[in-house]
Amino acid sequence: MTNTIAQKPAKDAPDRALMRALVQSLGRRSIVLVGMMGAGKSSVGRRLAARLGIPFVDADAEIERAAGMTIAEIFAEHGESYFRAGEARVIARLLENGPQVLATGGGAVMNQRTRDLIHIKGISVWLKADLDVLIQRTKRRGDRPLADKIKELLPQREPVYAQSDIVVQSREEPHDAVVGEIIAAVGRHLGVETRS
Ligand code: S3P
Repeated sequence: MTNTIAQKPAKDAPDRALMRALVQSLGRRSIVLVGMMGAGKSSVGRRLAARLGIPFVDADAEIERAAGMTIAEIFAEHGESYFRAGEARVIARLLENGPQVLATGGGAVMNQRTRDLIHIKGISVWLKADLDVLIQRTKRRGDRPLADKIKELLPQREPVYAQSDIVVQSREEPHDAVVGEIIAAVGRHLGVETRS
């Protein structure tokens, strides 16, 4: 019986070597996805982490876990400023765990200290999407407390998102294309050559 696995040339071997080089040069830093709700931070982040072979962490999910409540419940019972304080604490803690891909909630980087910490401990990537795309996508999931305020929040937040190390446009295209663009941009940022 022939061993097909051993004979098959590893087509993705160069890709794996590049991903390893990228992760190595990341060191303990995290790739931090920022941007408005509906930009696709969680789904893109999950795929990006899988491609790089590092953990994916969703700050919103960690906040819910720490509080034992959903974000909608935290907003309803304690209000937004209570949520924001918890969000800042959780993100500060998570940033200690790189290398990883960390998806942050849409309002997280409006906190100056969170921004400073991300700058020190990570590489920030703004997943930028047009207003109509964001509105379309958030309509599909009706559990976000501030979803009906996107139009009003976007102009306040965009100048802050724009301070990110990397900006990648999130379009209605397969997430893998966006992941490839992020990898190429992070590679350039770190001085690691990738062909993604
Ligand atoms: C928020 C975005 C949400 C969540 C909370 C507040 C915001 O995260 O943190 O509902 O202020 O934009 P996503 O961006 O992951 O939806």
